[in-house]
Amino acid sequence: MKAIILYGSRYGSTRRYAEELSGQTGIPAVSYQQAPELSGMDTIIYLGGLYAGGVLGLAKTLRSFSLQDGQKLILVTVGLADPGEPENQNNIRASLQRQLPAKMLDRAKLFHLRGGIDYQKLSFGHRAIMKLLYQSLRRTPPEKQTAENRALIETYGRQADFTDFSALEPIIQEIEGGFYV
Ligand SMILES: Cc1cc2nc3c(=O)[nH]c(=O)nc-3n(C[C@H](O)[C@H](O)[C@H](O)COP(=O)(O)O)c2cc1C
Repeated sequence: MKAIILYGSRYGSTRRYAEELSGQTGIPAVSYQQAPELSGMDTIIYLGGLYAGGVLGLAKTLRSFSLQDGQKLILVTVGLADPGEPENQNNIRASLQRQLPAKMLDRAKLFHLRGGIDYQKLSFGHRAIMKLLYQSLRRTPPEKQTAENRALIETYGRQADFTDFSALEPIIQEIEGGFYV
């Protein structure tokens, strides 16, 4: 069984999840920027940070790739918003539909993890985006905020880390299940 873990991470939370998953499964983890060959893989696990709904590196990595029969794709998003809220999951899934062909998405197993944010470490551009977003969100009454936006307001300007490695457990089970089918 040949498998690979790919990750798209700007500030490290997704990379840490990928490395932990790699440590627990023995599957090598590499950044999507290294553009490894995927065609001979039985299982591809892609973890990507959420940036304005998009999954970092995902479209670039899988754009020119077509899933072969028997090949397994596991997609894992890492974002600030709580994926335990159904509304967030719906938003993430809607944005995945914009990034991947339906044929590929239908065959993928999806998982959503929670990362974090540290405003001191954000790039100038990202800080400016978050500021604009925050200012516009503050004008919306709290009861009309989406769960995703509430998470952004609550953590604005701060350092917050919701990383939880135990949330990798169902992903490990999914991967290991694949070894015995
Ligand atoms: C410019 C910007 C846009 C973001 N957009 C989203 C988003 O749409 N949904 C979400 O849940 N988190 C969003 N986040 C939070 C990141 O997904 C979160 O910080 C994640 O842990 C980043 O992963 P990384 O550290 O691996 O880069 C955004 C963060 C930044 C800086």
